[in-house]
Amino acid sequence: MSQVQASPARGPTLATSLPVCNPLQKEAMKIKDAVVLVTGANRGIGLAFARELLARGARKVYAGARDPTTVTEAGVQALQLDVTRPEQVAAAAARASDVTLVINNAGIAQPGGFLAADSEDTTRRIFETNFFGVLGMSKAFAPVLRVNGGGGLLNVLSVVSWVNGGELAAYSASKSAAWSLTNALRNELAAQKTQVLALHMAYVDTDLTRGFEVPKASPEQIVQRALNGLEAGLDEVLADEITQQVKAGMTAARPGYLTPAA
Ligand SMILES: NC(=O)c1ccc[n+]([C@@H]2O[C@H](COP(=O)([O-])OP(=O)(O)OC[C@H]3O[C@@H](n4cnc5c(N)ncnc54)[C@H](OP(=O)(O)O)[C@@H]3O)[C@@H](O)[C@H]2O)c1
Repeated sequence: MSQVQASPARGPTLATSLPVCNPLQKEAMKIKDAVVLVTGANRGIGLAFARELLARGARKVYAGARDPTTVTEAGVQALQLDVTRPEQVAAAAARASDVTLVINNAGIAQPGGFLAADSEDTTRRIFETNFFGVLGMSKAFAPVLRVNGGGGLLNVLSVVSWVNGGELAAYSASKSAAWSLTNALRNELAAQKTQVLALHMAYVDTDLTRGFEVPKASPEQIVQRALNGLEAGLDEVLADEITQQVKAGMTAARPGYLTPAA
């Protein structure tokens, strides 16, 4: 299995990342001729996914959006889809019954720690999208994927699945929970041969990180690595160097998640 590589000129290299493959997976998902649904596809990483999927020859791309009029990319099919609304999720699964790949990308974040006065409300709101949204979509589309031959499920997670410095406390917890969900789904969907891929990365240059003065990958870079990993049959893509280091450090005497934020 080849490793996912990127040129140093375009960002951190992935040379140190070990591919994580499912030995039970017989055939990796292919983008060419796939029918793909991307949630939150009107902007940011979701839009980059939609564009790259079309460039790689996907037969159809459903661009899920809370407000479909904000989907302006040529070549995609706009689909009204707020992942926190079960009736819209069910309607999407009925309309997009030809889907072979679901990309659970929609997500929200809010700065703040668990000791903030409103942290319960914030946490519930974030979990509704980042955890229950992914759960609802996965349940609604599992039968669709099965009928269409297995296909794939790609969940957009984060390096904060494994660290929580308290600055984005509820968001980080939601990504930890969504990582656990993704691992369970990989096992539960193995029988129907659905490839389940977890995408983890640090900062990406989108609206979500506007105002954060930190190094950021481009959405295009992350999406290319994610889709390369999917087509290579990987279960997990660690899309940048920070993420690789954090994951590799989990077994260190003092793992990164114990280090207080500077
Ligand atoms: N940017 C980063 O640094 C970074 C790093 C790691 C992981 N991620 C993850 O990457 C994913 C995409 O983030 P992004 O950076 O592209 O953020 P973004 O630019 O803020 O875009 C978020 C997208 O999610 C959609 N969305 C939010 N709530 C939704 C809901 N209830 N139903 C359907 N769509 C909803 C938004 O739609 P509207 O336009 O309607 O708001 C928008 O299309 C998220 O899961 C995020 O957690 C981002």
